[in-house]
Amino acid sequence: MAIELFRKDDHVCLMFAKLSDEDGEAVQSNQFLIVNKGTGCIIDPGGNLAYNELYLGMSQHFPPHKLAAILASHADPDIIASLDRWMTATSATVYISRIWERFAPHFCKPGKTVGRIVGIPDPGQRLRLGEGSASFDLIALPAHFLHSEGNFQFYDPVSRILFSGDLGASIGADMNPEQTITDLGPHLRRMEGFHRRYMVSNKIMRLWAGMVRQLDIRMIVPQHGAPMAGPAIKDFIDWAENLQCGIDLMGSAQYQIPE
Ligand SMILES: [Fe+2]
Ligand SMILES: [Fe+2]
Repeated sequence: MAIELFRKDDHVCLMFAKLSDEDGEAVQSNQFLIVNKGTGCIIDPGGNLAYNELYLGMSQHFPPHKLAAILASHADPDIIASLDRWMTATSATVYISRIWERFAPHFCKPGKTVGRIVGIPDPGQRLRLGEGSASFDLIALPAHFLHSEGNFQFYDPVSRILFSGDLGASIGADMNPEQTITDLGPHLRRMEGFHRRYMVSNKIMRLWAGMVRQLDIRMIVPQHGAPMAGPAIKDFIDWAENLQCGIDLMGSAQYQIPE
């Protein structure tokens, strides 16, 4: 079942949250479908575990050939390992960081991606997706090193949702992705370990915070775990800005030859 994050007129944002295998071997991940006047895009389609339900969910809104775009925040397996199947089932264009553009075809059979991958340049860009009166805009925001070297977040100006990729992820047995977080405090223990290890440095966190404070954000929705809204948005940005993480915490103690 999809979780409806936003609906107004012909614009709908859906989150698919329970598509991983049931024995918990794979980390819980979210996939997103934006529907706009009979067309749409998928953000971070996920691995093969996610494919069937996301494909069926999409087909309830428009036929597969109407899918305008597949947006990938970066090139991890939980982001685009299902790419081969999406390339076969749809004619959508894939948008991914220019530095991963030539790596993504390794997820596919030879020739499948020819002419269908658009590399997003490092500064990011405004994307117009779909055709004619059904077209809609998204902003690809630079979010490099959060955590991937070539990484984008996607902001939807209609819903005012920031799809934040791995940044903002929450993980753990008591985490319910269907429950939007408004009080960040009790939620931080599901985020802290992940961010300290996966995010690259406090310098990058500060640069990101300075950028996103300029946006009017109604919801921050990560690729793992629960969406954040209300006071949790400002609190999360403040928390991220002050977090020591990644190389900040690394020293010679972490670089010893194992006994
Ligand atoms: Fe990742
Ligand atoms: Fe991830």
